[in-house]
Amino acid sequence: MTAKIIDGKAIAEEVRAGVKTAVAERVKAGKQVPGLATVLVGDNPASQVYVRSKRKACAEVGIESFGFELPATATQQEVEDLVKKLNADPKIHGILVQLPLPSHLDDQAVLGAISIEKDVDGFHPLNIGRLAMKGRDPLFVPCTPAGAMVMLEKTLPKLEGVNAVVLGRSNIVGMPVALLLVRANATVTICHSRSKDLPAICREADVLIAAVGRPEMVKRDWVKPGAVVIDVGINRIDDPSAPKGSRLVGDVAYDEVAEVAGAITPVPGGVGPMTIAMLMQNTLRGAELADR
Ligand code: GUN
Repeated sequence: MTAKIIDGKAIAEEVRAGVKTAVAERVKAGKQVPGLATVLVGDNPASQVYVRSKRKACAEVGIESFGFELPATATQQEVEDLVKKLNADPKIHGILVQLPLPSHLDDQAVLGAISIEKDVDGFHPLNIGRLAMKGRDPLFVPCTPAGAMVMLEKTLPKLEGVNAVVLGRSNIVGMPVALLLVRANATVTICHSRSKDLPAICREADVLIAAVGRPEMVKRDWVKPGAVVIDVGINRIDDPSAPKGSRLVGDVAYDEVAEVAGAITPVPGGVGPMTIAMLMQNTLRGAELADR
């Protein structure tokens, strides 16, 4: 079997086009232009790249972005004061604090200071808590898990009753994607570095979500023939034969797994573009919440 490739770039393009249309309609109707504030603390090069791509995506769909940069030496108070200022600014409908923050800062306290109506990353404990509760809904769903679900639902429209295995339990991806799968009525197993016999657990999966941040960890014999594999990992590895001396790989050994899986997301061009598309969708939603 050769897996169907799930084209994240193309699906993300569709999502962004939808947001662009909705933003244009808002503006035509005299409503506010959606505004996203990005907060970058310190000079982590990867974070700089991510924030730049998020702001570029805003410009492309007609969302206004406001960039805020603080030095690596910023205090907890300074970061939280900035968040509070943005909470009160009516032009801003979404606040994104790029993670990781420098290690002297308490990221949970910063994320908890964001108004839940502007929590476009969906990382506020109230939004995550609501995601975990039956009968409650979060105002925002975290972008990478939301993007993974869009790709999955396009590939496998009926998730009810499927065995889904989530490899990884981070606040940003593993845990929220597991909660979304439960909401979709899948039977969900969360496994991680301390689980016994990871390959055997993963082999039971009709849907396998790999989100551990370990390059090419998931091998061919970890995957049930025909399974849908969503690879959330983005890892840079040395490769002297690549033009830059390195290249990006996922958490899944793509070439070998593509020979057994039913469908698979590539890296790059899979979940990555979806994350940014969902951020655009969440920012539009932030503006819609502010209309009320
Ligand atoms: N760092 C890695 N992923 C993310 C994300 O989705 N949002 C933010 N704010 N920081 C991140």
